[in-house]
Amino acid sequence: MKYEPAEELISQKEIDARVSEIAAEISRKYSGQRLVVVGILRGAVIFLTDLVRKIDPSVDVVLEFMRASSYGASTKTSGEVKITQDLDNPIRGAHVLIVEDIVDTGLTLFRLKEYLRQRETASIEICALLDKERRVAPVQVDYAGFDIPDKFVVGYGMDCGERWRNLPSIHVINTIQE
Ligand code: IMP
Ligand code: MG
Repeated sequence: MKYEPAEELISQKEIDARVSEIAAEISRKYSGQRLVVVGILRGAVIFLTDLVRKIDPSVDVVLEFMRASSYGASTKTSGEVKITQDLDNPIRGAHVLIVEDIVDTGLTLFRLKEYLRQRETASIEICALLDKERRVAPVQVDYAGFDIPDKFVVGYGMDCGERWRNLPSIHVINTIQE
């Protein structure tokens, strides 16, 4: 099976405007406080770098990264979520914001949030650029960029078999039968 990016689903302009809105909301909520922003590698990196630069400097932002894997090279989730890279620093007593590219079944974020909750943080919120609303796990997304249909998307950090993360806008992937 071969995949190719097809029509643009969300443009650079739309992404930029929505990321600004989310950053403004986060800035209002955490102004004057320290916020540990936990980016989920690798898909959330492009979104995270745009987002944190739009957060007001009155928020004391610290960056951390984690990695979780469930998909491998396929477009279907395996259902099993493995945490393959942990935080570098303790987060006890901290306000934490998990930043993810996309929430689909919710299994990845559910597992990550449960995992971080054990560390006695002051709070944990979740920010995801895209929301597919095909929930299996009951995870609450506190800041969501766009609701999208149940289609596989690439670009703006998101991949299909590690490809197309560098596309500046978000595209649906088409399957090409050979
Ligand atoms: P969930 O565990 O089913 O919620 O899936 C979330 C994870 O799967 C995200 O971290 C993404 O990396 C990946 N994912 C889900 N849907 C897509 C997609 O359409 N494009 C790229 N990655 C996706
Ligand atoms: Mg991911």
